[in-house]
Amino acid sequence: MQKVHGDIEMKIMHVVGARPNFMKVDPVMRAITCHKRVRQLLVHTGQHYDIKMSAAFFRDLDIPIPDVNLGVGSGSHAWQTAEIMRRLEPVLLKQAPDLLLVYGDVNSTVAAAMAAAKICIPCGHVEAGLRSFDKTMPEEINRVITDSIADILFTPSEDADKNLLREGVSPRNIHMVGNVMIDTLVRMLPRAKDRFKEIREKQEFSKNLLYGGFGLVTIHRPENVDDASSLKAIMNGLAVISRKLPLIFPVHPRTRKQLKNMKNAVNGSGLYMIDPLSYLDFLALQCNAMAVITDSGGIQEETTYLGVPCLTIRNNTERPVTVTVGTNTIIGHNIDKLKKEVKKIIDGHGKKGAIPPKWDGHAADRIAKIIMRVRVK
Ligand code: UD1
Repeated sequence: MQKVHGDIEMKIMHVVGARPNFMKVDPVMRAITCHKRVRQLLVHTGQHYDIKMSAAFFRDLDIPIPDVNLGVGSGSHAWQTAEIMRRLEPVLLKQAPDLLLVYGDVNSTVAAAMAAAKICIPCGHVEAGLRSFDKTMPEEINRVITDSIADILFTPSEDADKNLLREGVSPRNIHMVGNVMIDTLVRMLPRAKDRFKEIREKQEFSKNLLYGGFGLVTIHRPENVDDASSLKAIMNGLAVISRKLPLIFPVHPRTRKQLKNMKNAVNGSGLYMIDPLSYLDFLALQCNAMAVITDSGGIQEETTYLGVPCLTIRNNTERPVTVTVGTNTIIGHNIDKLKKEVKKIIDGHGKKGAIPPKWDGHAADRIAKIIMRVRVK
């Protein structure tokens, strides 16, 4: 690492591509903007391209329009990763940033990190070190590879530091900064609370649904939706639960596609299946939900911060702090357990938790300060 001299201008390129990246890049770009001698460039790979999966987030969070959109779109993992690398390489060569920042664990993250590493552009990974130890998850492959080639690793929790140290990463390159996703949540929460009042007043969902308590559902992970019998079991479980606790279920395009293919689609009396929501609308519902049922990664963290019980339909989590400290319970694929846990919550015995260290709304400030202080050769 090298000190940056006061008069050197630094060029930082951020690469994002999928929905969970957008709320992570936003606070980092804002924090770096406070440092005057830095030029920032934003590249969108186009991994997510639907308005509701991408543009709505840029609008809600007021993220600058990307300088470059690679327009990659959907495809198999190998195709998508390779195509992002192929299209990003000339942009990296032309712009020659001093540092590339990548976020989270999606295909865009690993593709950008690899493209940069191969032409010796230093790379920082925001949300480094998380591990599910489950290589059947494409995100786990993305996380392990990205961390093994990144030069600066910004971690959200101590477990992530331990994982990196065990994998032989130099402690000098690991920085426990906290959770940038929570930075965005903290910034947007007052607006989300106002938005909830608006949603209720305008009765944007079914009449009175939001008055007596409701649950919020997101399911999109391949292991849950790509296999028809798994999806069917989950949908049946949700239908039963929704008779006691109305459920709002914004449906990811992948899930929507699988549901369309499913014969005898399930309908619960209180199961409201809607299009994906914008950041603000989702947070508005999340912070007022009695329970959240999900297979997402980030939502396990947001519910922990909000103190809302979260039931995760997965066998493991790369975010163990949400279980040991927060409000998260890992359900596996046991739908009876899911029903029992929901009943506990309805009966007032939902899991209580605390907020993990440095999940305080200032993680991005720490990242910006570290970047200004050090520069990777
Ligand atoms: C990706 C991430 C996952 C993250 C999720 C959030 C990887 C490996 N996975 O999964 O970690 O939790 O984003 O959404 O990067 N589609 C659309 N419109 C879009 C985007 C996708 O219709 O804007 C459909 C396409 O049919 C596509 C499918 O959704 O094939 C899956 O999209 P993809 O980006 O491959 O993965 P996600 O399941 O969204």
